[in-house]
Amino acid sequence: MPHYSIDAGELSAGQIYRLLSGTVCPRPIAWVATCDAEGRANLAPFSFFNVASVDPPVLAFSPLLDGEGRTKDTVNNLNAVGECVVHVGSEDLVEALNATSATLTPNDDEFDHAGLEKAEMPGVSVPRIKGAPVAFGCTLFDIVRFGDSPLAGSLVLARIVSIEVDEQIWDGRHVAMDTLKPVGRLAGSDYVRISDRFALERPG
Ligand SMILES: Cc1cc2nc3c(=O)[nH]c(=O)nc-3n(C[C@H](O)[C@H](O)[C@H](O)COP(=O)(O)O)c2cc1C
Repeated sequence: MPHYSIDAGELSAGQIYRLLSGTVCPRPIAWVATCDAEGRANLAPFSFFNVASVDPPVLAFSPLLDGEGRTKDTVNNLNAVGECVVHVGSEDLVEALNATSATLTPNDDEFDHAGLEKAEMPGVSVPRIKGAPVAFGCTLFDIVRFGDSPLAGSLVLARIVSIEVDEQIWDGRHVAMDTLKPVGRLAGSDYVRISDRFALERPG
């Protein structure tokens, strides 16, 4: 089959963004709460997201610099207050999640914008989303910056210090996937549900 053979340096940032977001998928979504130095809350989704370490437990997500090379509020807040609460994007709250991706001024509170209630998160000063099925309270472990160009990532490594999870979601061992209903991010405006799953036993 004919195919492109490309030196990555030949592509514009926009082209690579579309290629990566369309091929590295579906991606889980971190829905991240942070606070600025004055205690104003911020909430935003990031699908460049995964588990980086289990012991210690560390989550990784990557806010990009915007099209003008400016840092997003989430990273500014993490640099000011090294704490965050990471929720997992799920079907029941996906409209609100999308609403919190709006570009608001740093003074605007995305919890209010999306009609979400705050609840205290043990171990950190940042609030969690009341009603979210699972929340991880984290302290900042490190931020790896990949440069100053538009769309350069700032890989946030966030160490989990506290967990709030619905008893219907986790019984201490198993996660009830059909109750959690995590969603995956594809390219553009597309998402996937987990309603078509299959299992494969790992070879011994
Ligand atoms: C589902 C979804 C996933 C997103 N993933 C990312 C991402 O991984 N990295 C990123 O920089 N922006 C991502 N965005 C866009 C940010 O959420 C958006 O720029 C947001 O306004 C950033 O908020 P902040 O400036 O308050 O940090 C995503 C948006 C949506 C709706």
